[in-house]
Amino acid sequence: MPTIKEILQTMDYGPAPESTKEANAWLDQHGRRFGLFIDGAWTEAAETFATSNPADASELAQVTQATLDDVERAVQAARRAQPGWVALGGHGRARVMYALARLLQKHSRLFAVLETLDNGKTIRETRDADLPLAARHFYHHAGWAQLQSEEFADYRAVGVVGQIVPWNFPLLMLAWKIAPALAAGNTIVFKPAEFTPLTALLFAEICQQAGVPAGVVNIVTGDGAVGEAIVNHPGIDKLAFTGSTEVGRIIRKATAGTGKKLSLELGGKSPFIVFDDADLDAAVEGLVDSIWFNQGQVCCAGSRLLVQESVYDRFIAKVKARMQNLRVGSPLDKSNDIGALVDPIQQQRIHGLVESARAEGCEIWQPSCEAPTAGSWYLPTLITGASTSAAVAQAEIFGPVLVAMSFRTPSEAVQLANNTVYGLAACVWSESISLALDVAPQIKAGVVWINTANQFDAACGFGGYKESGFGREGGKEGMYEYLTPLSEDARPAAPVVAEKGRVKPSEEGSPFAVDRTAKLYIGGKQARPDGAYSRAILGANGSFLADVGEGNRKDIRNAVEAAHKASGWSKATAHNRAQVLYYIAENLAIRADEFAQRIAAQTGAKDAAREVQASIERLFYWAAWCDKYDGQAHQPPMHGITVALNEPVGVIGIICPNENPLLGFISLVAPALALGNRVVAVPSEAAPLSATDLYQVLDTSDLPGGALNIVTGSASELARTLASHSDVDAVWRHDGSAEGCAEVERLSAESLKRTWVGGAKGRDWFDAKQACGRTVLQHASQVKNVWIPYGV
Ligand code: NAI
Repeated sequence: MPTIKEILQTMDYGPAPESTKEANAWLDQHGRRFGLFIDGAWTEAAETFATSNPADASELAQVTQATLDDVERAVQAARRAQPGWVALGGHGRARVMYALARLLQKHSRLFAVLETLDNGKTIRETRDADLPLAARHFYHHAGWAQLQSEEFADYRAVGVVGQIVPWNFPLLMLAWKIAPALAAGNTIVFKPAEFTPLTALLFAEICQQAGVPAGVVNIVTGDGAVGEAIVNHPGIDKLAFTGSTEVGRIIRKATAGTGKKLSLELGGKSPFIVFDDADLDAAVEGLVDSIWFNQGQVCCAGSRLLVQESVYDRFIAKVKARMQNLRVGSPLDKSNDIGALVDPIQQQRIHGLVESARAEGCEIWQPSCEAPTAGSWYLPTLITGASTSAAVAQAEIFGPVLVAMSFRTPSEAVQLANNTVYGLAACVWSESISLALDVAPQIKAGVVWINTANQFDAACGFGGYKESGFGREGGKEGMYEYLTPLSEDARPAAPVVAEKGRVKPSEEGSPFAVDRTAKLYIGGKQARPDGAYSRAILGANGSFLADVGEGNRKDIRNAVEAAHKASGWSKATAHNRAQVLYYIAENLAIRADEFAQRIAAQTGAKDAAREVQASIERLFYWAAWCDKYDGQAHQPPMHGITVALNEPVGVIGIICPNENPLLGFISLVAPALALGNRVVAVPSEAAPLSATDLYQVLDTSDLPGGALNIVTGSASELARTLASHSDVDAVWRHDGSAEGCAEVERLSAESLKRTWVGGAKGRDWFDAKQACGRTVLQHASQVKNVWIPYGV
């Protein structure tokens, strides 16, 4: 008699296809030809393109390629609808969004089948992941609409937002984008990806049923040219993009200097780290979810497997055995694990990368199963023997391809994990909570899953570090992406120039005066400028006050290097950082009169003493925040918690305002230091002496060398160098130069730095609403969400 094991081995799944009847009926009802959804109505389909089923290459429908005029009409409709949508109030919007959530649930089967037909992903995933998560997003954000007046009282909606999404999670990305935008009172021009427009069009119908007012949600279909038209439209106030890093860069450059708010969720090459004490079988299951979910076409896919050497062979053997059991086939079959790739072009891309690895001598392993012949398919693939610099180890493959490597120690694991330009996500598997929680903060990524993988929830922010983009989607932090602080509207049109006192006539300087050149401040020491040039700083009365060093590219490079070496500042306790800021304030207070005289001499300001007192208070203010800007513990629907940590951004280059040379400098530098960043500051170009006078204050205040570096000189030239430097993580520019701010944003696109620029408008540095608060804290930090399931 056969054993149970033998019987199980001979058993196979029968076909379990999901019916396409309802989805086909919906397509037929539209004549398989779709116009655009603008101002609450459908346009006639004009120039169209085909969208097809990747599993068998059959055409599903013809969809409209929107024109510039269409985008124009969509933006205008959104603009017209926006005041009314805001006027509906938080509760009114919450009711509409709740109705959207209900309707998504009611029609979830239709949505799931349509998504599977259009995208090629398995019905198991669309049914069990995409749809429930999309509905949850609308429920969660209906809640934020309801709570808006209480929780975001100091904010308003941004206005009209343009949203562009990729094809890998068509409806889910729509939900991630549209739900927070609607909750906050924005109106929308949304573009789905050209490969997968159908569920967005079905969603348009749901909007009509849910009572979304005309013009609030507009859906335009088409290719990258339509995306470009949205990006470049002057009537768009904010852009939210998910897609390739390459297009993210283009959008960053295109929006530079326009004042458009921007969030980018880009590519990844996420590590999946397995320590030798991990539950290996659970880790294998996690790995399946991590890299083979959606055929690996996931921005946060765990595409780099890092396994501790002592269990490497055992783990790889388990992975291969599991891969052998993955079922590849019709995405509509409920028992299949792996569906089709979205398009043959992706198949060719993946094939090219895998073959490059084969040519380099890597071992390529695939299970012995057959993929269907029609449509675009790729078998689950494991690559071993790749070097860390190989294309397959660095590029986002965006397919079912896993690259495995080994490591010996936790620090080597961290180093390998961070050896990428991306920083979207990571998985850490270990039964030692102490080890896992030690490693998680060291990984430069926006999401870390401990002993789990690819978990998402509307209450937890998602988004990247480094070239994976900036901005967060989900939770409270995601809401801020769609809100503008009211204090921004209060900003003066131009920098506020202090009222001048009586300016003394200039005196001729003595030709025998000692060298009064203020040096640069790098690595905690005064340093001569590399170029041995200096510039004369004249007082308000035209008299010579002092020379300051003229910093150049080399000085910035030295300062950035010093800032990187001062990583201890980022690890110092918040209490310790606060102590240092209080100490700076105390030492500044001792020399308050001297600093006031210096401000008066440079700017002629009547109220220089007030500026010094405000600067001391501001240091106290940011010292106070050091140990109070806590993270959050989210409660997603799992047994566990998600801890949102506010981490420093890293090395920030700060171009300080020209006006208020002391208060402007401290208002920007202190919050950056308070949250553990290291700073390269360029003081007021016109009045830098208030910053160079601080050297002695800093020396006596226990600020570690390199935490704050000061380089004087041409703001534009130094800003350019900072914005182009690949080891600078963020650049802030607030010197009132519109063109200079645009340039910073443009140059920052290369390494996708975060930027915070003031543009040509001024800021009242004395006004706490304009110069302090949550917005500044957010610029000085980035959120990492660490998922910690327990009891499993
Ligand atoms: P893509 O970034 O070109 O497309 C994403 C969206 O942007 C689509 O809606 C597209 O129409 C639009 N778009 C394209 N060019 C644009 C432009 N100049 N301005 C505004 N919008 C524009 O991604 P694509 O071509 O579909 O895939 C190429 C590669 O990108 C993939 O192989 C994958 O590596 C990566 N990718 C990464 C994604 C992620 O979530 N990280 C998502 C999709 C693709």
